[in-house]
Amino acid sequence: MRLLVTGGCGFIGSNFIRHVLEEHPEDEVLNLDKLTYAGNPANLADVEDSPRYLFHKGDVCEADDVAMAFSWGPDAVVNFAAETHVDRSISGPETFVRTDVLGTCRLLEQAREKGIRFLQISTDEVYGSIREGSFTEKSPLQPNSPYAASKAGADLLVRSYTRTYGLDAVIVRSSNNYGPFQYPEKVIPLFVTNLLEGRKVPLYGDGSNVRDWLYVGDNCRGIDLALRSGLSGEIYNIGAGQEKTNLELTRAILDILGAGEESVERVRDRLGHDFRYSVDSTKLRELGWSPRRDFEDGLRETVQWYRENAAWWEPIKSGEFRRYYMEKYGDI
Ligand code: NAD
Ligand code: DAU
Repeated sequence: MRLLVTGGCGFIGSNFIRHVLEEHPEDEVLNLDKLTYAGNPANLADVEDSPRYLFHKGDVCEADDVAMAFSWGPDAVVNFAAETHVDRSISGPETFVRTDVLGTCRLLEQAREKGIRFLQISTDEVYGSIREGSFTEKSPLQPNSPYAASKAGADLLVRSYTRTYGLDAVIVRSSNNYGPFQYPEKVIPLFVTNLLEGRKVPLYGDGSNVRDWLYVGDNCRGIDLALRSGLSGEIYNIGAGQEKTNLELTRAILDILGAGEESVERVRDRLGHDFRYSVDSTKLRELGWSPRRDFEDGLRETVQWYRENAAWWEPIKSGEFRRYYMEKYGDI
């Protein structure tokens, strides 16, 4: 299969491309990525010489860039390209609407013209927060942040293309991912690298918010299954069933790195902070998927990866990210 992957230089996209090249020796991948602050070609340094991997720098919002990528003749497109950080969407929503909604629309248009399968990488955040139980694919969309609202807008556009034009499209909605190559603005790599630098970790509010942690490799297997076996027009949730409060997560990280509670700085809560996300992934499990990585093992391996790959994250943290960090957290 010839796969057009957008946003493949980000965290999940790069892990997914590596997964496809390893698991499907007949597949070829074209990666269309704008290389925003979150896109890093170093995430794919080990595959850049592969004859089955091509990179094209371009913006999913630009019709010419998208047309150029589609002229390669893909059999399917997997859309990871997005602005992804909730906090940044709260301080500046516009780029989220542009990339996550308009970018998806541009890709849908080309997929419709070429008549190829479209896999939209969505998120459990489109359902909003849930105190008890889990959302199914039939639950209403109640996004609470500008990021989640933009992703929900994209999902609705995808749905409209299946109904209006009969586009062969599938949506996956996963819970919080963690693992190697995650940009250090997200809580796990931020806390791990802060501790490795001898800094404190900024915990929002009282730390009681809950997230369901999915190892990125498990998500990549789920995405791959939905791409190849998902039914047209369907949505598949991908959750790990490994819920932790932020305080439990923080203590697990402190424990692995031998740090104490004095390394935790309680900071002002996120505006509109969703209390808990939880999705029911029975539908994908019925296709044969289940998560393999136990959270404690996955977290330990992830911490080890950041320990061994300071050459990857140190330039990020001392570059443009430093200004963002200082404005947001001050001298923590
Ligand atoms: P990321 O922020 O690490 O990477 C995003 C990538 O998209 C970067 O390579 C960036 O350069 C690229 N990009 C951004 N704007 C672009 C544009 N206009 N044109 C082309 N490329 C552009 O993101 P991630 O965490 O890997 O998330 C990937 C996808 O998965 C997103 O759609 C996100 O909504 C979804 N998702 C993420 C998680 C998670 O826990 N990280 C969970 C569920 C769903
Ligand atoms: O649920 C899937 C979503 O998970 C994805 O769609 C998003 O792209 C991804 O960024 C992630 O969103 P979250 O907001 O859940 O992830 P984040 O790592 O930003 O925060 C996780 C939790 O940790 C959340 O409850 C807020 C808290 N947190 C976060 C940061 C950055 C802190 O306590 N301190 C922090 O400094």
